[in-house]
Amino acid sequence: LAKVELEIGNIPEGKNVIIKWRGKPVFIRHRTQSEIEEARSVDWKTFRDPQSDEERVKKPDWLVMLGVCTHLGCVPIGEAGDYGGWFCPCHGSHYDISGRARKGPAPLNLEIPQYEFNEAEGKLVI
Ligand code: FES
Repeated sequence: LAKVELEIGNIPEGKNVIIKWRGKPVFIRHRTQSEIEEARSVDWKTFRDPQSDEERVKKPDWLVMLGVCTHLGCVPIGEAGDYGGWFCPCHGSHYDISGRARKGPAPLNLEIPQYEFNEAEGKLVI
């Protein structure tokens, strides 16, 4: 299977990067400390697709997920919506800073692909 490597060392905190992987956008966010705290302080058990932030990331400061809305597949917009994460303009789904579906028609959280970090080279491998 085709892998994509991305150097992440120069992506500053608080910035989103989008890459393409198997024809789909992948969202990568270097989260700030306050975003991590926000993602972890909410009562996720009440969400429609209950998942803790810890289940969704390998490292707290890096959020990696498919940029495909779980409603009908549009590409959500970053740094938008009511929860400080992503907003899908097609039918108004809001995702939080962990990519969890919080409002609107999206039934599920943004999907997490398989990925790993290559620490020695400062790379993300998807
Ligand atoms: Fe995103 Fe419908 S495709 S809200």
